[in-house]
Amino acid sequence: MANNNRGSFSSKFGAIAAIAGSAVGLGNIWKFPYVAGENGGAAFLLIYIGITLLISIPVLLAEFSIGRHGQGNAFRSFVNMTGKKGWGAIGILELLGAIFVLASYCVIAGWSLEYIMRSVMGGFHGMTQTQMDVQFDMFVASGWRPIVWMVVFLIINSGVLGMGVTKGIERCSKFMIPALFCILVMLAGVNLWQPGFQEGAAFILKPNWSAVSGHTVLAALGQSFFSLSIGMAAMITYGSYIQRQESLNGVGVIVSLATVLMAILAGLAIFPSVFSYGIEPTKGADLVFKTLPPLFAELPGGYFISILFFILLFFAALTTSLSIMESLVAFFSEELHIKRVWALAIGFAIILISSTLCAMSQMPDSHILVGGETLFDWTDKFCSAYILPLGGLACVILVGWFVPHHVVEHELTSSGKTPLWIYKFIVFMMKYICPVVIIILLVNCILDYFGVDMIAALMSLIH
Ligand code: PHE
Repeated sequence: MANNNRGSFSSKFGAIAAIAGSAVGLGNIWKFPYVAGENGGAAFLLIYIGITLLISIPVLLAEFSIGRHGQGNAFRSFVNMTGKKGWGAIGILELLGAIFVLASYCVIAGWSLEYIMRSVMGGFHGMTQTQMDVQFDMFVASGWRPIVWMVVFLIINSGVLGMGVTKGIERCSKFMIPALFCILVMLAGVNLWQPGFQEGAAFILKPNWSAVSGHTVLAALGQSFFSLSIGMAAMITYGSYIQRQESLNGVGVIVSLATVLMAILAGLAIFPSVFSYGIEPTKGADLVFKTLPPLFAELPGGYFISILFFILLFFAALTTSLSIMESLVAFFSEELHIKRVWALAIGFAIILISSTLCAMSQMPDSHILVGGETLFDWTDKFCSAYILPLGGLACVILVGWFVPHHVVEHELTSSGKTPLWIYKFIVFMMKYICPVVIIILLVNCILDYFGVDMIAALMSLIH
């Protein structure tokens, strides 16, 4: 059952860097600051931190436990943990989610490479907002150019993975995660001198309790799960590489706090510029590829700031993409009993096809649509709304209710080193609270699909 030839993270720092690498990604840099600002700033932040500590960390620990005890890829770990093949279906679902997420992730990562190149060539100086809009839209619609960059990104990703878990993923993350942190601190530091710093900082740091509603809590929950890479095979796979002597709780808490910190820093690096120029804050591609480049170009040292910003984006996307692709590589190599390099070739081919389709779905007149949306938009929404909560739910139910107590205790107390009350609290959350909360999130997503606002419906029932 257990495969002793599997790789592992060689140290605690290595494990933390790799896992934080998976967590800190585009979700932190281009989603969190905006969602936080829109949902009450610091009020959202406090709810987000509370949810991360009480709900997301137990789910994350359930995934780690399945991986470390199961000692296999996402599918095999479920089977090994339960002794039943049926549970493996959850692993397969999570792996499918991983493919969907990576498909659009590689496209965006490719954009960051294009924009690193444009920054190096000094392309943003003196450009107006409208010119930036047109330039980005033309680039995305051109079809072949984003595809070429996406392929370059995939080759870099595969190059790192080809070196293995310790020498590839761990070494790369040990360099990139501290670098990412330094770049964020530098970018936030430069913003201190911006006239809009106070306003920008207030956008994410000042609590506005009147903007808080049931929606805020659900938004915080979704954001926290996505940020911690829950429900999509990555954390089970990485959990299987954490060595026995490391404390899963310690790793989980440090990674979660680091993720929150990086998201706040991202907000401080981005919004002061936006407010200094009196521009409406946006999110996603619009914010990162249209709004920010000309603003950064105006700053003292703007040339280097643009380059650093897009390198930041590239690092964040790369370390995250490693965890997703590694989940596929581990699956194919262990299930088909083939060498890592062949498993990597299969993963590469699958993502190459799916990412190409995602990129093509953004071309004008594209017919690659699902439910009226481009494949690119649909994959992200589908995964965040359904696969992620379903995967997380299955993990907490499995670990909370089905796995023998001594196994869970062994994993979560690091063989007796962690106080028992902490273990008991985590298991209580896994058993009772997390499933209820995740089911509410899922029901909300399903109702949302049918155009029903769950919170509004509940409120009208109460009144
Ligand atoms: N955590 C990543 C981010 O914030 C996204 C992700 C989701 C990665 C699921 C892996 C699995 O960008």
